[in-house]
Amino acid sequence: MTTVPLQYSDAPADPLHVAVIMDGNGRWAQARGLPRTAGHKAGAEAVRRTVKAAASLGVPYLTLFGFSSENWKRPQGEVGDLMGLLRLYLRKEVGDLDREGVRLRIIGDRTRFDEDIQRLIDDAEGRTSGNTRLNLTIALSYGGRQEILNAARSLAEQVRLGGIDPDDIDEARFQDSLYTAGLPDPDLLIRTSGEQRVSNFLLWQVAYAEFVFTDVLWPDFGHQQLAEALDDFRGRERRFGGSAGA
Ligand code: IPE
Ligand code: IPE
Ligand code: MG
Repeated sequence: MTTVPLQYSDAPADPLHVAVIMDGNGRWAQARGLPRTAGHKAGAEAVRRTVKAAASLGVPYLTLFGFSSENWKRPQGEVGDLMGLLRLYLRKEVGDLDREGVRLRIIGDRTRFDEDIQRLIDDAEGRTSGNTRLNLTIALSYGGRQEILNAARSLAEQVRLGGIDPDDIDEARFQDSLYTAGLPDPDLLIRTSGEQRVSNFLLWQVAYAEFVFTDVLWPDFGHQQLAEALDDFRGRERRFGGSAGA
């Protein structure tokens, strides 16, 4: 069982794990009279910039929400364009990520992707698995409720097979059954584009995350915006249910 030390302190330490709901690609494109795809393309550039920024700002874990379980309901053309961009990203970026010491993980229901994409994901994860400078996780075809259901199902199956007793299911074991097994919980959750909701992202893991909402649209996000969110985080007082100053 993998146990990751979590930072339980109310000191405004730098976040170990930053998670981002990358929202606003469509509105960015619309404001320029461009098709939504242009927004998604610009969004992919913002991913590139933000990964570099996280590495240079010393953030060890970065998790990006790229495509939700619910996003499959979007028009076929948009989903197709997003899959095309994903293919391109996996083909073209992995070499750079590897050179920069980035370990890439993909979380979500990958069985819904075309087989060639599933292979690209496996290759990218395998190729970067030894890297330690930045742990980059991209949530694709991901839903927090689906993740929790999967975990419950797999634990129930282990009970049925007699491997474990229901009383053995504690927080640590549950956490190890999630897609994010081995990753610390996010300390900071950023959402761009002015929306202030969690949209089925990391429901279990954000229990004590600090939230930062910014009006910046995702394609305009980069080093400066990440640095500002980190500053905001440093000014927060974290309590984890304890009392102030305790
Ligand atoms: C975020 O941008 C990217 C995905 C969810 C795939 P949106 O496509 O949601 O952009 P808006 O919210 O319509 O502006
Ligand atoms: C959340 O954005 C999913 C991602 C950023 C990948 P959405 O644009 O899909 O969320 P809603 O529909 O505004 O809640
Ligand atoms: Mg959106």
